[in-house]
Amino acid sequence: MFTSDDYQAAAKSIRDRLTLQPQIGMVLGSGLGKLAEELSARTVIPYAEIPGWPPSTVHGHRGNLVIGRLEGQVAAVMQGRAHFYEGYSMPQVAFPIRVMKALGMHTVILTNAAGGINKAYQVGDLMLLEDHINLPGMVGANPLMGPNDEALGIRFVGLAQAYDRRLRERATLVAARLGIPLHSGVYCSLSGPAFETPAEIRMLRAWGADAVGMSTTHEALAARHGGMRVLAISGITNCAIDQVDSDLETNHEEVLEAGAVIVPRLTAILKDLLNDFPT
Ligand code: HPA
Repeated sequence: MFTSDDYQAAAKSIRDRLTLQPQIGMVLGSGLGKLAEELSARTVIPYAEIPGWPPSTVHGHRGNLVIGRLEGQVAAVMQGRAHFYEGYSMPQVAFPIRVMKALGMHTVILTNAAGGINKAYQVGDLMLLEDHINLPGMVGANPLMGPNDEALGIRFVGLAQAYDRRLRERATLVAARLGIPLHSGVYCSLSGPAFETPAEIRMLRAWGADAVGMSTTHEALAARHGGMRVLAISGITNCAIDQVDSDLETNHEEVLEAGAVIVPRLTAILKDLLNDFPT
C-alpha cells in the first residue's frame, strides 16, 4: 500500500525537474510510445529515477515519463506502463495516475493495444472506450481495495460514466473531421499475460465486450477516484481468435507491428483534440 506521502514524494521529484506545469497525463500502451516524440521542449525522466514508480518490464514499453508541449497543452506522457501480470500490485499499477493527480493534472488520456472481439473491427482500427468490464477488479484485484484515504477520493466511486462523455463526443467529432474511423465500444480487461482461449473470446463477446486487453481499467479507476476526467482509446492490434484449432495464433510481435499503423491515426486525433481541449 502507498500513502499520500508516497505520491507527493514522487510528484516532488518530478516537479523539481520541470519548468512547465503539466495539465494532462497520457499513458501510451504497447507499440504506441512513439507518440511522445511529438512533444516539444521535452523533459525525459526514466521511471527508475522517480521514487515508487514501477518500471515497465515489457518489450515495447520504453519506461520514460516525457513532459512537454503538445498543441498548446502541457502533457506528461508515459512511454509504457506497469501491468498486473508483471507481478505488480494494483496500487503499483495505479501509482503513476495518483502521482499525476498529485502534480495537479485534471485529465488522463489512456491508450492501449487491444484484441478486437467485435467482428466489425479490423487490425489498425481505433476504439474509443465508452465503458469497460474490469474482470480482475470485479473479483478483488482492484486498486481501490483497502483503507480509503478520503483525501484522495471517496470510498464508493460511481462508474456509470467512467469515460468522460464530453471528451468522447469531442474525440468522435475530431476523428470524423479527419476521416479516421473511430469505433465506440466496451473494453474488457483481463489479468493476462496469456492471450485468451477461443472459448473465452466467445464468452466475452456474449458479455458485450468489443475489445480485450490487459490494462487501462485499473488506471481509469484510480483517476475517477481522484476526480480526474478520463478519455481512453484502444488500438486494435489483432483480431481475437474465436475458433479452436485455428491456424492463427496471437503474438506480441503482431501487437507491436500494428502500432506502426495505429500511432499516426492516434497522433492525429489526439493533436487535434488537444488543440482545442475542452476544460
Ligand atoms: N488479448 C489481450 N490483450 C491484448 C490483445 C489480445 O488479443 N492484443 C493486444 N493486447
